[in-house]
Amino acid sequence: MAFEDVDYTSLSVPAAPFSNPAIVPEFPKGRVPRHVGVIMDGNGRWAKQRGLVRTEGHKAAEPVVFDTIAGAIEAGVRYLSLYTFSTENWKRSPQEVRFLMGFSRDIIHRRVAQMDEWGVRVRWSGRRPRLWRSVIDELEKAMERTKDNTTIDVVFCINYGGRAEIADAAAAIARDVRDGRISGDRVTERMIAEHLYNPDIPDADLVIRTSGEQRTSNFLPWEAAYAELDFVPELFPDYGRAVLWRSIDHYIHRDRRFGGVVQNIVRHS
Ligand code: IPE
Ligand code: IPE
Ligand code: MG
Repeated sequence: MAFEDVDYTSLSVPAAPFSNPAIVPEFPKGRVPRHVGVIMDGNGRWAKQRGLVRTEGHKAAEPVVFDTIAGAIEAGVRYLSLYTFSTENWKRSPQEVRFLMGFSRDIIHRRVAQMDEWGVRVRWSGRRPRLWRSVIDELEKAMERTKDNTTIDVVFCINYGGRAEIADAAAAIARDVRDGRISGDRVTERMIAEHLYNPDIPDADLVIRTSGEQRTSNFLPWEAAYAELDFVPELFPDYGRAVLWRSIDHYIHRDRRFGGVVQNIVRHS
């Protein structure tokens, strides 16, 4: 049976945002990170620990993705970037790559109504070449359907690589210079930021990586240049809104200096 033919619809559906307000922590106003990135790692190890094939770990991650989105909405996060498939993940076996492509396409298709209901605006960050046409089609349909939603922007980073994004921005600037729209000696940080995949999205404030690995693996190198980092031990299938809230709480207690000095920072609590 082809991976694409597998029926995943029996997977559990996480509780919708605010269906249990009693458990939502009250974060101090104005202190919640506006843009959170999550490197969703550890699906393969989760499966291995259970004697299962790696793809079972990816399947187990699906409800967790939506629990995380619900938790981000509850916490008041405005942008959530989810690292779903990197430009380096093509190195994996053809079977796993094929599974991940088909699964991403199916998830977007199957969950778009739920995301729409939750007020999610679906976004995509990544490179077109090589990415399956059917994945792009589902992303485009979901982006069109949800474009007026304002509760949260969820950015699926699929065929995303931070270096690729910066190289693509540089290429776009080079085209502008060639065509006389800008002068080559006036390339600024702002100009690069304006040529990223989604220039309207603010820099990441907090980047979380699951599974205990302490690296960023080419995720948002430009946007997360000053982000706080939180490396959590949970494998992604064991992740969820409660662990997200713990990271937000860590974030709230950090001093962000942006190169300034600590006395200038208004400390919380
Ligand atoms: C993250 O889990 C999912 C993707 C990168 C697509 P992994 O598949 O990397 O799981 P581990 O790191 O091998 O456990
Ligand atoms: C990063 O995880 C990519 C995604 C989560 C999509 P990887 O598992 O690919 O990263 P490395 O290989 O451990 O650095
Ligand atoms: Mg991994």
